[in-house]
Amino acid sequence: MSVDGVEMRFGGIVALAGVSFDVGRRQICGLIGPNGSGKTTLFNCISGIYRATKGGIAFNGTPVTGLPRHRMIGLGIGRTFQNVALFRSMTVRQNMLVGAHTSGRSGFIANALRLPAVRAEEHAANARADELIELLGLSHVAEDIVAGLPFGWQKRVELGRALIARP
Ligand SMILES: Nc1ncnc2c1ncn2[C@@H]1O[C@H](COP(=O)(O)OP(=O)(O)OP(=O)(O)O)[C@@H](O)[C@H]1O
Ligand SMILES: [Mg+2]
Repeated sequence: MSVDGVEMRFGGIVALAGVSFDVGRRQICGLIGPNGSGKTTLFNCISGIYRATKGGIAFNGTPVTGLPRHRMIGLGIGRTFQNVALFRSMTVRQNMLVGAHTSGRSGFIANALRLPAVRAEEHAANARADELIELLGLSHVAEDIVAGLPFGWQKRVELGRALIARP
């Protein structure tokens, strides 16, 4: 990932002033800074929630600036949110499965008719959800509604929802 001269202004507030860095393949990179220094704003620019007022962001050589948000995961960019953004009335498993829909290839008609390919995709997504539920230590609450879970567990559900698409 290559972030090049990214600037983000909110009216008079300059939240990001010319941020540039590269993250290599398989590199693990942490971003630290005091409250209000612009970390979340940068993640929002990278994932397309905000459009940077200047500069460019590229992933695997593809410019992502201005790309619709729903295309991000197709490129391999997943994310979680500082304040969790789950579907509160849905279960742990259902929330995770939402993240899997982009890996499905079948279209609207195939889904409406529940063709075998659709069932195979659903089966694969459920198997992947099972793996992640186990990995994240959520087996005992897999069928529980997320709204009632402690914050830390909700964070894990979000991580699962991001990972299920294999970002
Ligand atoms: N939507 C917005 N409209 C106006 N100002 C904003 C907006 N989002 C962020 N800001 C401002 O941009 C600056 C950076 O905020 P940001 O939330 O990115 O910081 P942060 O590093 O994530 O902070 P924290 O450690 O508290 O999570 C702050 O001054 C904040 O008030
Ligand atoms: Mg933040």
